[in-house]
Amino acid sequence: MMNYFEMINRLLACSFVLAACAALFVTQFAAAESPREQLSLDANWKFHLGDIPLDSFAGGEGVRLYGANLTDSGGKAGHVWGAAARGFNDRNWREVNLPHDWAVEQAFDPKAEKQEGYRPRGIGWYRRTFKLDSADRGKNIELQFDGVATRCTVYFNGTEVAHNFCGYTSIYIDVTPMARYGNDINTIAVQVDAGAMEGWWYEGAGIYRHTWLVKRSPVHVVTDGVYANPVKNADGTWTIPVEVTLGNTGRDVASPAVEVGVFDSTGRKIAGGKSTAVNIVPMDQGVATLSIPVKSPQLWSVDQPNLYEVRTTVLSDNQPVDVVSTLCGFRTIRFDAQNGFFLNDQPLKLQGTCNHQDHAGVGVAVPDSIQEFRIRKLKEMGANAYRTSHNPPSRELLEICDRLGMLVMDETRHFNASPEYLKQLEWLVRRDRNHPSVMLWSLFNEEALETNEEGMEMTRTLNAVVKRFDTTRPTTGAQNKGQLDGDGKANPKNAALTMDVVGINYQAYDYDKILAAYPDKPVVSTEDTSQVMTRGEYFTDYSQNTVAAYDDVYPGWDKCSSARNSWEAIAKRPRIAGGFFWTGFDYRGEPTPYGWPSASSFFGAMDLCGFPKTGFYVRQALWIKDKPVLTLVPHWNWPGKEGQPIKVMALCNADRVALSLNGKLIEEKPVDPFQMVTWQVTYAPGRLEAVAKKDGREVARYAVETTGEPVALRLTPDRKTLTGDGSDALPVTVEALDAQGRAVPLAQNIVNFALEGAGKIIGVGNGNPNCHDPEVFLPPAPRSIAVNGWRWKLTNVPNDRSALPEYGKDFDDSAWKELRPTDGNTIKTEQTTAIYRAHLTLTEEDLKNAELRLRFAGCDDEGWFFVNNQFVGESHDWSSQPVFNAKQFLHIGDNVIAVGVKNSGGQGGLKPEVNLDLVGEPTTLQWSRSLFNGLAQIIVQSTKDAGEIKLTATADGLTPATAVVQAQPCAPRPAVP
Ligand code: GAL
Repeated sequence: MMNYFEMINRLLACSFVLAACAALFVTQFAAAESPREQLSLDANWKFHLGDIPLDSFAGGEGVRLYGANLTDSGGKAGHVWGAAARGFNDRNWREVNLPHDWAVEQAFDPKAEKQEGYRPRGIGWYRRTFKLDSADRGKNIELQFDGVATRCTVYFNGTEVAHNFCGYTSIYIDVTPMARYGNDINTIAVQVDAGAMEGWWYEGAGIYRHTWLVKRSPVHVVTDGVYANPVKNADGTWTIPVEVTLGNTGRDVASPAVEVGVFDSTGRKIAGGKSTAVNIVPMDQGVATLSIPVKSPQLWSVDQPNLYEVRTTVLSDNQPVDVVSTLCGFRTIRFDAQNGFFLNDQPLKLQGTCNHQDHAGVGVAVPDSIQEFRIRKLKEMGANAYRTSHNPPSRELLEICDRLGMLVMDETRHFNASPEYLKQLEWLVRRDRNHPSVMLWSLFNEEALETNEEGMEMTRTLNAVVKRFDTTRPTTGAQNKGQLDGDGKANPKNAALTMDVVGINYQAYDYDKILAAYPDKPVVSTEDTSQVMTRGEYFTDYSQNTVAAYDDVYPGWDKCSSARNSWEAIAKRPRIAGGFFWTGFDYRGEPTPYGWPSASSFFGAMDLCGFPKTGFYVRQALWIKDKPVLTLVPHWNWPGKEGQPIKVMALCNADRVALSLNGKLIEEKPVDPFQMVTWQVTYAPGRLEAVAKKDGREVARYAVETTGEPVALRLTPDRKTLTGDGSDALPVTVEALDAQGRAVPLAQNIVNFALEGAGKIIGVGNGNPNCHDPEVFLPPAPRSIAVNGWRWKLTNVPNDRSALPEYGKDFDDSAWKELRPTDGNTIKTEQTTAIYRAHLTLTEEDLKNAELRLRFAGCDDEGWFFVNNQFVGESHDWSSQPVFNAKQFLHIGDNVIAVGVKNSGGQGGLKPEVNLDLVGEPTTLQWSRSLFNGLAQIIVQSTKDAGEIKLTATADGLTPATAVVQAQPCAPRPAVP
């Protein structure tokens, strides 16, 4: 469910496809009409990689005091300790914008988990503060995290408010009771533990999907509270049964009604209705229902994805108090046991791909517009269906599939019938059940228990949860075994019996037996193929971890197969609704058939950047029916192989292909519609050309040419414009050209990038699973020098900035006591003062830094801080961690740091953990990437400004290239400042 702001926001972010659509919704109703505010919380977070030990902060003493088992929740609401505390000093933490994946920033490590792409993960902390206007008091305030990998604990204003053990489910937190207003500051702290693995593939680390702050009326539509999925009645008319869940966090009983309008793509209201009032006592919920007939809507389909807006207005005392917009589509879906899948009563073979969610350069923190780029590439390949394997997708991915026309098999992460996990499934169905793209719920993938009674009962439970919230779509499970018993009959104890559609992973050798065993059940290939290949490589070389890209290498399990064999088996069986092959894109982890140094998979029809491999062209030839398809592989640069045979393959949907080399016909051959056509061609440099014929007539022509050496670079942005909203991003392709301007397929040059103007580079990649170059370039982290060797003495201290001989450099403190890390509070009595001193030696290099920040772990209760007898600052809060830029007071050689401390109540003193952080000048980052077989990719994102973005690429010995993209002005995204 989206409100107006959110929807416009998201529409604008995808402006190039949606220009018309965005204009439509923008003109539709003014922002002021929606009292709700859905504000992005993505910008301006602080991030710390690693955990924060409990005893490194003020209050940590308490942990020792009360015993080791006391957690950092501190036991008291509003008063958690450590990095979760309200006052914790995060000044030295890195600034990040979300979505953020810290795993992709790490160096590859052979000791790290292979399935996570050899990227170390671990623990990280995020913090952010914000203010709420006094006028917000009384509203309902909700924090929303769309996805955090992998386990996390969220703290708000010093109270633990949520923990989540799934990296793919959203976290909605009503923080109304804990919120602070006016000048008071609200603090969010999130500890993310990415040590755990939920799957067997790269899952990233961090807050990697969007975050939101929602302010809404106390009487409001709850999150995901609108269910408006059009249904076609038996007489052919359409109705939208609308069910709206309303919340009331106000102090009075409310009796809201909801008014619903349905708007077409021109903004015209085509239908509407109003519910009766619902009584809701404070802190409770109620449901309003109504049914809206809609006359002759334009149908949603994969070719014409027509969408409608359902606008829900909550009326309380006849005043509109909340407005929520939901997009929906009018379509029917049907899985037929005999004839496969039907969309709008027309048969449609599901030409699907399975996909994980990471992309080159950005890991799992994929900008929405890059998601959109990926779905466009899949459509270009001829795909009409997408399996979100093996987890709930982002909300934005489904919105993109709705808009671009891509059917979705929506999968939950955990096959688990316990209450916590059933809640996750419930959340998935409630969130996703309005999307016209979603046509199938998947309850599991390849589970050990799928073959027995336990699995059957679990599936029955999961199935019932789905049905409670959506009866319009069937359920399935991606099952790789157990559908048959020893006699080839339906196994009476297996999960397939308790779901609507039999989902088959692989097992193509048993298709006919399974079809026979389940004569009355629809069947779909939930996963197949698993062919492996390296883009641009045509020999399998085990010493180089490469796999030939001819669609003929695949692992041995469960009868994996080539793309061609897999599709032939599905296409020839009308009962099979279609298939989802493994995978559309490469992903990090699972580098089958290799291990280190291969860090990402070889399964994709496209590589991690979305550059097509042979598998992409094979699928085009198999799937695209309405226009000629013809591509030749391999490239025609084979120096040293003159006179030797090279395997040539035409990926083609025509009848015949004639192949010639340098103008001389080699051979014309018929094309097998599934297996395509191949030749062995004796290599000679030049032009290899194919002519495709249908019914004897030429329908397509394609050539590959031997190129010269690279002499220049070329940059090709995916689009000419970006929306200047700080979020829109696009991929730019980098190639090396020969003297005739032809892309050189073998080029491996190292390319450097520079960017000027209203944009930034956020990641680079080249699709090579074996490449360990950084994908992200970060400014160097500040170096820290520990200030050790503290000595101290109880003595009188003036409570002000006046100097004392004890603060001076030459004072002899050798008779003072040592301050040891284990000492705890050193001042045992109230209203007592002491001085603490330490020496610090610095070099000329150290002094060159822009800032030298002295950072104290704590000073209880008050302190006056001196460097070389000069006053640098004071602190008056026992729980704070004072930081001072002491650069102007420090010099090369020996320095003395001295602190006068006053303990007012209880015990106190200076904490011995003191550091000097050396913070360098901001430097321009030097981004670079090597080409892999002729290609690399840079991801450029807009800043919040409009204007020109100029990207320059340079490489040794090559003519540089520039590309210009215009960042277009746009209304600022509604966001928390
Ligand atoms: C399947 C599994 C996928 C992936 C694939 C690789 O069995 O469902 O997640 O691991 O194998 O071939």
